[in-house]
Amino acid sequence: MNIHFDLLAGYYDRVMRRHQSTELGALLNLPTDGFLLDVGGGTGRASKDYRNQVRGVVISDLSSPMLAQALQKDSLLPTQAIAEALPFADNSFARIMVVDALHHFIHQPTALSELVRVLQPGGRMVIEEPDIALFSVKLRAVAEKLALMRSHFYALEKIQKMLTRTGLHAEVRRGTSFSGWVIAEKN
Ligand SMILES: C[S@@+](CC[C@H](N)C(=O)[O-])C[C@H]1O[C@@H](n2cnc3c(N)ncnc32)[C@H](O)[C@@H]1O
Repeated sequence: MNIHFDLLAGYYDRVMRRHQSTELGALLNLPTDGFLLDVGGGTGRASKDYRNQVRGVVISDLSSPMLAQALQKDSLLPTQAIAEALPFADNSFARIMVVDALHHFIHQPTALSELVRVLQPGGRMVIEEPDIALFSVKLRAVAEKLALMRSHFYALEKIQKMLTRTGLHAEVRRGTSFSGWVIAEKN
């Protein structure tokens, strides 16, 4: 059920805090000559900051109202797609980011194998997720259940393990905030 984001789309960028782009940009190892794919990228709130550091930014999301907001931002390339079946050729993207979205996906293991499939050899992906090890995030998980959202939060180490099993090198980083990162590279 993705109706929450369809309904929120027009207000999303105003309701959400500005994304802290410097840290994620460094973890993504930008700039790059290749394309950046933002999966579950919504309005482009997070990836818009990287437009000048990559060849192009493709935003892929299930919600057309969220993508309509991305279309209003210069130079973003929105594509309606489910993360579990991405409409891109193997090895297409130099960088992939997923911010605050993995826990909303319908089947995370399938979505992760799709991310691995479309990542170029030598490419890097960063998944930014609320860190379910924190009490504040556990409260948020309960709130999302009460709001009838279908969220499922995986521990960062579990995401790391799932990516490692596909042959990627993956590691977990934690900062001082609510969210942590899983960084993965494809040989
Ligand atoms: C909390 S928003 C995050 C949006 C953006 N990454 C950001 O940080 O501003 C989660 C996004 O995931 C999208 N989404 C949920 N399930 C999805 C799926 N199975 N495939 C693709 N996108 C999905 C929603 O439409 C929504 O735009």
